[in-house]
Amino acid sequence: MTMQNAAPGAARTVSVSRVDGRLKVTGGARYAADHLAERAAHGYLLLSTVARGTIRSMDVAAAERAPGVLAVYTPFRKLELQGGGNPFSVGHSWLPLQDAEVRYHGQAIGLVVAESFEQARDAAALVSADYDVRPPAASLPDGIAQATDPGRVNGEPSVLDLLAEGVGTIDEALAASEVTVSGTYTQPLKHHSAMEPHATVAVWQDDQLTLHNGTQSASLTLGTIAAALGVEPARVRVISPHVGGGFGNKIATWAHPLLAAAAARTLGRPVKIVLTREQTFTITGNRSAVQQTVTLGARRDGTLVAVKHQAYSSQSTSGGTFEASPHTTSRYLYRSENIHLDQKIVTLDIPPPTWMRAPGQESGSFALETALDELAVKLRMDPVALRLRNNATVYPGRNVPWSSKHLDECYRVGAQRFGWDRRDPAPRSVVRGEWLVGMGMATAVYPAERFPASVKVRFQADGDVAVSSATADLGTGMWTVLAVLGSEALGLPVARIRTDLGDSTLATNIGAFGSGATASTGPAVAVAAEAARTELITLAVTHERSPLHGVPAADVRYDRGDLVAPERRIGFAALLQAVGVTGVEATGSAAPGPEHGQHAFTSFGAHFCEVRVNRWTGEPRLTRITTVIDGGAIVNAKTARSQISGGVIFGIGQALLEGAQVEPATGRIANANLAEYLLPVNADVPPIDVHFLDHPDTLFNPLGARGIGEVGTVGVAAAIGNAIHHATGRRIRDLPITLDKLLD
Ligand code: MOS
Repeated sequence: MTMQNAAPGAARTVSVSRVDGRLKVTGGARYAADHLAERAAHGYLLLSTVARGTIRSMDVAAAERAPGVLAVYTPFRKLELQGGGNPFSVGHSWLPLQDAEVRYHGQAIGLVVAESFEQARDAAALVSADYDVRPPAASLPDGIAQATDPGRVNGEPSVLDLLAEGVGTIDEALAASEVTVSGTYTQPLKHHSAMEPHATVAVWQDDQLTLHNGTQSASLTLGTIAAALGVEPARVRVISPHVGGGFGNKIATWAHPLLAAAAARTLGRPVKIVLTREQTFTITGNRSAVQQTVTLGARRDGTLVAVKHQAYSSQSTSGGTFEASPHTTSRYLYRSENIHLDQKIVTLDIPPPTWMRAPGQESGSFALETALDELAVKLRMDPVALRLRNNATVYPGRNVPWSSKHLDECYRVGAQRFGWDRRDPAPRSVVRGEWLVGMGMATAVYPAERFPASVKVRFQADGDVAVSSATADLGTGMWTVLAVLGSEALGLPVARIRTDLGDSTLATNIGAFGSGATASTGPAVAVAAEAARTELITLAVTHERSPLHGVPAADVRYDRGDLVAPERRIGFAALLQAVGVTGVEATGSAAPGPEHGQHAFTSFGAHFCEVRVNRWTGEPRLTRITTVIDGGAIVNAKTARSQISGGVIFGIGQALLEGAQVEPATGRIANANLAEYLLPVNADVPPIDVHFLDHPDTLFNPLGARGIGEVGTVGVAAAIGNAIHHATGRRIRDLPITLDKLLD
């Protein structure tokens, strides 16, 4: 494949195919469920059929007698788990099967273990539960009257005023504004819907637990499992080399690995649990439903003077995170003399929300970026010009500049690539046959995060170099990024780098989330490579059988796999063979430093899209999308492009298709399957023109790379909604924008 989108004059032109690509397409890549443990028993989760209440009793007699059944565990016949786990990683405020309370429809209330998956599933159907049922609260709009204040959001007060001198309240600033717009924006609860349903295989051997568990963080899983099972962390190993999509819902440790590990210990056999698609909807978290109101005040020239952003996000009686919309967007996206944020939560009897790709920004940008478009219409101002006028150069309310911010260039380059100048600003001005055609745009934003990370580099006697770390590849490209960075650090072809990841026994690494995997792990590759080269030179000059024995270390340098001394050169493989060792290795670490108080670190971007809406059926279709990203240095153009395309497609789902139907009376997710919970398929996805600006952010890390895993999805829904407004003259403030909302 050719790279049509490499920036002209880009410093970094690397564009290689996934190093794990062959494994993926040949079935050689083994996911958790592919692990065939000897004598494995199969567990099947039994879920509650009410949303709120107490289980009085459960009749498991028929299930226990069913063919192949080994055990049936319930709150009345417990698998012991203990509290004290890391709540960050558990995803719930309680542990499964430890009490008889039902907190949401589809909660795990039992585990049937049998010789086969089918036997376990069939036996589960024979269990009956008798509940004391209480009426659930499951509707966000109905719950708003009882909304509560979470107190703090992202380290700041949940109600936050950044007001100019002498301004008493945001409403005062709005009243004094020359132009105002206000809108209420709603979106339903959503589910991550990764291609790979969650799965665990738990294997105990001599008091050692090996857990094959698809996860974004082997180390967080390990910590939670060890605490809940009451075993030393050193006795647990978590393996997860390939993950079929995470999007945030393979960070927390859900019920199935806890129960699989406990059941395997009790039964003395490996236990495998693979969730069904339907089970993933309730067992593994969601994105909050959100209702937001954004009110903007501006001068006639478009200068923002007041931004007021309020949100109600659904949360769960079981805890979890929530969608923090104002604090992740209006907090800092534009310069404004007055900013007011207000985040409330509505606690419902529904499965707990968890992080989902661009948590906060996804919903927040839909509201803010639609409101900006409404303001542009009211001002008769070009939406790009409006955004350029309000571009923030310092982080509002904090006296810190961005380390590197080229959002203005994203707008200009994007507008040019897309052909924005051909847009007639009048809504409903372009009709092609039965289609109304419109163009819209919006801003993308996501903070750059960086965590401490370690990497091991090992020169092998077989001529390859192993680069490994306990990070994760969710399909994001981390296998390839390690190979590319190893290749660059060592001056060797990518084909000679052997990568390994997704195993808690590898060099310490918290994993892949917060768009921070490359930014965290990348810098450690260079540190480890440098340390390993030093080890190699030390061995070369000290070992008696080395051809370089006795040469002063200062006279030896490393050059593309060779050690070079005056008048001598030897490849590392020849050296290792000569001295009779299989390898030389070193571990290197990298972590954020004091620079992290001195700058704000953020990735930015701009989306431009063209839609057409059928005049008679209301059907919205996308024609094309241009996305320009300012993400710092791009390590590998091909997988980076794939990341951004994936983010854009995620946003198409948000805009046009996705939404869990939570029945208000029962708390049941009525469309917990991929036939009725609609995701974008190929026919929904137009050509996506992805373009990266090339501005390495070396104040952020030595690599200059910020994250790109999430920024690509932020703003897409607003860009599409804005284009639909341009096409039809109709402003839809309720997602997803389905054809029924567009019928004349
Ligand atoms: Mo991301 S929602 O931190 O996987």
